[in-house]
Amino acid sequence: MKKVLAYLSPERHCSLFDIIVAHDAGADVVIPYSNVCPGDVKDIVYGCCFTRHPRDLRNSCIFVGGYSIEKAEELASEALRVLNGLPKELRVNIALDPNGAYTTASACVAKIRSAIKVENANTVVLAGTGPVGCSTARLLADLGANVLVSSRNLERAERTAKAISKKVYGTVVDGEQTLASAVRNADVVVSAGPPAVELLPRKIWANCGKIKVLTDINVVPPYGIEGVKPKDDGTLLEGRKCYGALAIGVLKMKLHQMMIKQMFKEKGSLFNLKETYGLHESCLLR
Ligand SMILES: NC(=O)c1ccc[n+]([C@@H]2O[C@H](COP(=O)([O-])OP(=O)(O)OC[C@H]3O[C@@H](n4cnc5c(N)ncnc54)[C@H](OP(=O)(O)O)[C@@H]3O)[C@@H](O)[C@H]2O)c1
Repeated sequence: MKKVLAYLSPERHCSLFDIIVAHDAGADVVIPYSNVCPGDVKDIVYGCCFTRHPRDLRNSCIFVGGYSIEKAEELASEALRVLNGLPKELRVNIALDPNGAYTTASACVAKIRSAIKVENANTVVLAGTGPVGCSTARLLADLGANVLVSSRNLERAERTAKAISKKVYGTVVDGEQTLASAVRNADVVVSAGPPAVELLPRKIWANCGKIKVLTDINVVPPYGIEGVKPKDDGTLLEGRKCYGALAIGVLKMKLHQMMIKQMFKEKGSLFNLKETYGLHESCLLR
């Protein structure tokens, strides 16, 4: 029986990255639906659930991608609403990973946790208003860290922080002074900006004695944190543990593939941010 994955995206184009990973992880057929809005979801879910005998439905699943976390969560929650209205045996598995943010943030936080006790640690997510930074901040906050999210715009930083949790704070970084003050008391710094933008020069982090872990997600030079290289995987630099984008990316890919494989294994799975992060221990053991 062919393994079929229905791929839903609110964007104009479905993510080629996600489609290739789905095939590599064992999907025989990936059916991309682009420009999906919540009103389209019901018919797609029905098409997925009503075509096969219930015992074969573990070979069908739904994946929600796209860029925006908000839109992906909206589509996924509509899909769940429809699925929950069906008899249990007719439900299919569902996962969401907007912009690869849930798998990337999970990998990033797993690396941080391998270096330091996160609970009560001061963590700063630079450029944390994008999907990856936001998801990283959410996971860190859920694990009991103190989290500060930065943006070039104070209102955006505060809005993002508030949407994550009352315990997460936002701050503006619009120059060296505000940057230095944002990271001064940090135990952990995560750089979550776009490709080819350096967010944290060495002269600033080198002056912050408290920083123990430097984590960079940007794989395109110049990298996000000066001195941290993509392959760094716990490398020590001036006494700080460094994790670069490739080391995080390798774990991200493992998580992504494991999530798809699990979806085709047994019914009853929902992979959102928390569940995706939950896979990291088995991935790190491999
Ligand atoms: N290593 C991996 O496996 C992996 C996987 C997926 C993604 N990534 C990488 O993860 C990073 C984050 O992805 P994302 O999609 O969440 O990022 P994004 O949305 O493109 O950018 C994140 C934030 O960066 C800020 N920003 C944009 N341009 C900037 C500039 N010129 N200078 C300073 N800040 C700027 C923006 O915040 P404000 O406007 O609020 O300041 C934006 O919200 C990217 O580098 C991506 O390539 C890595």
